[in-house]
Amino acid sequence: MREMCKVLVTGGNGQLGRAIKDVSKKYKYEFIYTDTEEFDIADFDQVSSALDKIKPDIIINCAAYTAVDNAEEDQDTAFLINTEAVENLANQCYERNIFLIHISTDYVFDGRNFKPYKEHDPTNPLSVYGISKLSGERNMIMASCNGVIIRTSWLYYKNGNNFVSTMLRLADERKSLNVVCDQIGSPTYAGDLAHVIMKIIENRSLVSDVETYHYSNEGVCSWYDFATAIIDIAEKKCKVMPLKSSEYPTRAQRPHYSVLDKSSIKEKFGITIPNWRDSLANCIKELK
Ligand SMILES: NC(=O)c1ccc[n+]([C@@H]2O[C@H](COP(=O)([O-])OP(=O)(O)OC[C@H]3O[C@@H](n4cnc5c(N)ncnc54)[C@H](OP(=O)(O)O)[C@@H]3O)[C@@H](O)[C@H]2O)c1
Repeated sequence: MREMCKVLVTGGNGQLGRAIKDVSKKYKYEFIYTDTEEFDIADFDQVSSALDKIKPDIIINCAAYTAVDNAEEDQDTAFLINTEAVENLANQCYERNIFLIHISTDYVFDGRNFKPYKEHDPTNPLSVYGISKLSGERNMIMASCNGVIIRTSWLYYKNGNNFVSTMLRLADERKSLNVVCDQIGSPTYAGDLAHVIMKIIENRSLVSDVETYHYSNEGVCSWYDFATAIIDIAEKKCKVMPLKSSEYPTRAQRPHYSVLDKSSIKEKFGITIPNWRDSLANCIKELK
């Protein structure tokens, strides 16, 4: 009898890893969750011997160096995890015939577009993090393994350090908050992305070579709009004030506009995507 299909999740303790753990329970696959300790994607010997042992059919790579500002100084680590480790993982997947689902970012774009970015629009990352993630994408494509790259944006989950948890914490500590209003994008609830990843797994026979897709929640907002919605939905008393990016300098430069066009993933996998406000309301309800 054929064994149950095995899915190895890297970065399993991160936001997306946890979201996958929560939604995967009703699927008939064997999920194996790993994080840095037992499956350090940057330790190539450990990766190889763990794959010999686990023999997965599918890998979902949720492991990444995600500290966008720190990456400006800690370039070697960012490139090791987001670029070189992805190349190694993709080569291993090619050799072992493993389907690889890899997650990338809207920060591969420079934000000079005036309409939602399509998958084949020119990239031009503004930060070390963005460059390291784009190089990871390119390495996966060069490795010729079978799988998908999903670019997502403004990811948050009910557990994890993210914009939603930060706003909720600050709202309890302060009377008002200043939030940038001139960076426009779309939030993504990790639970929604996790459902789409399951849909891709079920339909992986439709994917040839490496295909790239964009995924975020529907709708468009600024960080200021996002913060206002968080405070409103959570019924906090804190006031939110708009701020220009130039008044809030960060080490890494971020795109002013990074809305992703999701028509390809919707069409290919037959999905409908929830609006960011509805998903945010669900998340805050779960937090309560
Ligand atoms: N967060 C966002 O706003 C956002 C936006 C767009 C795209 N993305 C992409 O979405 C994906 C998931 O992001 P996320 O928010 O879930 O990230 P996250 O919460 O930061 O989780 C990343 C996980 O990867 C682990 N990790 C780091 N280095 C590793 C290594 N060498 N080997 C194995 N595991 C390692 C981390 O462990 P430690 O905590 O121990 O380091 C952590 O558990 C990433 O590819 C990210 O680039 C995120």
